[in-house]
Amino acid sequence: MYLIKEKKELAENIVWFDILAPRVAKSALPGQFIILKADESAERIPLTIADYNAKTGIVSLVVQAVGDGARKINGFNKGEYFEDFAGPLGLPSELVKSPPKKKILFIAGGLGAAPVYVQVKWLAENAQKADLILGARTKDLIILEEELKAVTEHTYVCTDDGSYGFRGNVTEMLADLIENQGKQYDEAIAIGPLVMMKYAVIAAKKYNLPTIVSMNPIMVDGTGMCGACRVTVGGKVKFACVDGPEFDGGLVDFDEAMRRQTTYKTQETEGKPNIEHAENCPIPHYDKIDFDKKKRVAVSEQDPKERAKNFFEVNFGYNFEEAKLEATRCLSCKKPKCVAACPVAIDIPKFISEIKGGNVSAAAETIFGASNLPAVCGRVCPQESQCEGACIVGIKNEPVAIGRLERFAGDWALKNLQSEDNAVKETKSGAKPAETAKKVAVIGAGPAGLTCAGTLAKFGYEVKIFESLHEPGGVLMYGIPEFRLPKAVVKSEIENVKKLGVEIETNVIVGKTITIDQLFAEGFKAVFIGSGAGLPKFMNIPGETANGVFSANEYLTRSNLMKAYRSDSATPIMIGKKTAVVGGGNVAMDAARTALRLGSEVHIVYRRSEAELPARVEEVHHAKEEGIIFNLLTNPVEILTNEKGWVSGLKCIKMELGEPDASGRRRPIEKPGSEFVIEVDAVLMSLGTSPNPLIASATPGLNVDKYGC
Ligand code: FES
Repeated sequence: MYLIKEKKELAENIVWFDILAPRVAKSALPGQFIILKADESAERIPLTIADYNAKTGIVSLVVQAVGDGARKINGFNKGEYFEDFAGPLGLPSELVKSPPKKKILFIAGGLGAAPVYVQVKWLAENAQKADLILGARTKDLIILEEELKAVTEHTYVCTDDGSYGFRGNVTEMLADLIENQGKQYDEAIAIGPLVMMKYAVIAAKKYNLPTIVSMNPIMVDGTGMCGACRVTVGGKVKFACVDGPEFDGGLVDFDEAMRRQTTYKTQETEGKPNIEHAENCPIPHYDKIDFDKKKRVAVSEQDPKERAKNFFEVNFGYNFEEAKLEATRCLSCKKPKCVAACPVAIDIPKFISEIKGGNVSAAAETIFGASNLPAVCGRVCPQESQCEGACIVGIKNEPVAIGRLERFAGDWALKNLQSEDNAVKETKSGAKPAETAKKVAVIGAGPAGLTCAGTLAKFGYEVKIFESLHEPGGVLMYGIPEFRLPKAVVKSEIENVKKLGVEIETNVIVGKTITIDQLFAEGFKAVFIGSGAGLPKFMNIPGETANGVFSANEYLTRSNLMKAYRSDSATPIMIGKKTAVVGGGNVAMDAARTALRLGSEVHIVYRRSEAELPARVEEVHHAKEEGIIFNLLTNPVEILTNEKGWVSGLKCIKMELGEPDASGRRRPIEKPGSEFVIEVDAVLMSLGTSPNPLIASATPGLNVDKYGC
């Protein structure tokens, strides 16, 4: 929680906040921004830092009450707390790297006065005062005038209506300074509304004045994870949150940026979706279980037609009778191949035999000896290619449903065991921590980080996890939908990890808020990096920055983490009438099934055949049952747009399979002349992700491979 130490009204609906955020204040630099989430249901809103003080731990922001999110923020008062505050994000202003030896003119439009203030102040503190044009529509909207005058050489005030200072907008003021007052500058830095920055750049170009601008597009995470903040600069797509926010204004495509800003305008006026949801939905009762030992015991599921309209969990899991019956199919092999195929080597035959004997508590404790997340892993591990793929029963018949049994034991433990019982402290090896390595930092509270932290805690280490988002869980929270992995299950298992002694600090972006070197300086003896593979890929085909094109990461984060499908969430999400999802992995299936539940007709577009779909067979089966249309051996070549720049179709080409490529799968080859168009108004790109480069780029000497791992 982040205390509001001061709140000042600068103008009507424009407020200055001083917020206590010591970690952010210590690392902040001019030009950077933070992400603020006012309370539980609020949006994540990016705000450029207006001032900071490392000694007092204060970070200052200026917020104008435009839009629901900003209005909510401005409703908070001194002494109250904001729930989440993450940063500093983005690259610092170039001038911080090396104080320029040139004459700089700042141009601040409206609220842009706030981010300009921190920059001119920094320059003044470094013995170089700049000039400033401070513009607004009318006198009442001029903010921070006295503060800015104190740190600039000259501040030239202008108002569009002539109510104060020079009559005219900032570009007219610029012309007056250069043409009538003989002023000369080497560079301009313009910050304010997009349209003002666009025209400031055009005006400055007339005087050969290169102009830096600060972009503030729609954002979700602010760490390069979703691609919502895409801006085209010099013909290349950049992520403003990691490549910016400052760019060479002469290279920015402002028209595209202004269009992309309108993405959620209709939802602001038309209201939010409200899809049925619940933490738990009723489990149907079965009087009789059909049992053929060659087959696994069937699991009950929601009817496909029903579940396509809600976010309840699809699969109800086994009840006690079903679990015991399925457990009888295990051969209790002497040398179990399933254990060797399990990444954490759970003693599978033992926990299954405990279920068979009716001792679910002992089954759960057996699993907890090796895994901290059985209810999660039982649901979403790819068992068919791990434990179940190696099951001997599977040679002739269906393999034992190890995943379902693990889930059964995990769910049972969540309901019936006290957390202290879950948190079995003894490990099989009984190893003790080395005296010199007692304190360990874990970066990322996703499955890797939670597993590492829980295991180390069982060994007796003191472990602290640093998580960049406002909730721990990583992909379990932001990526996998509620209908496949209920968030209540994830939260309960995270609570169990905490009860092992693991501490979790959210809103800390390692590489930005704090560096790995600083973690060592804080006394950590080892650092585990489990920051995930959150950098989304795009195809680089024409039309990819059109309104209505999203990464699956962005779409799923809005829906899963920010609950955009609920009317009580402030986060918007686009609901296309027809949505194309490009890709064939689990994330593609999750995005497709989410779009379907929001009311869209959904087409999966995948360039290989069904046999090569990387998604789990169960997910493909569920997607088909729910009515998702599969366009296989099909590859997009262009996203078509209407005259307003919104998606109007996906131009595709038919593919056929050639010889196997390096991945061992047959290479898809285009069929010349087979282009066709799928009419859609939304496109979700789900082409895989790669590791976020943030930590590697902020950690000298940390080596990564060619994939960034
Ligand atoms: Fe920039 Fe998500 S906000 S990538």
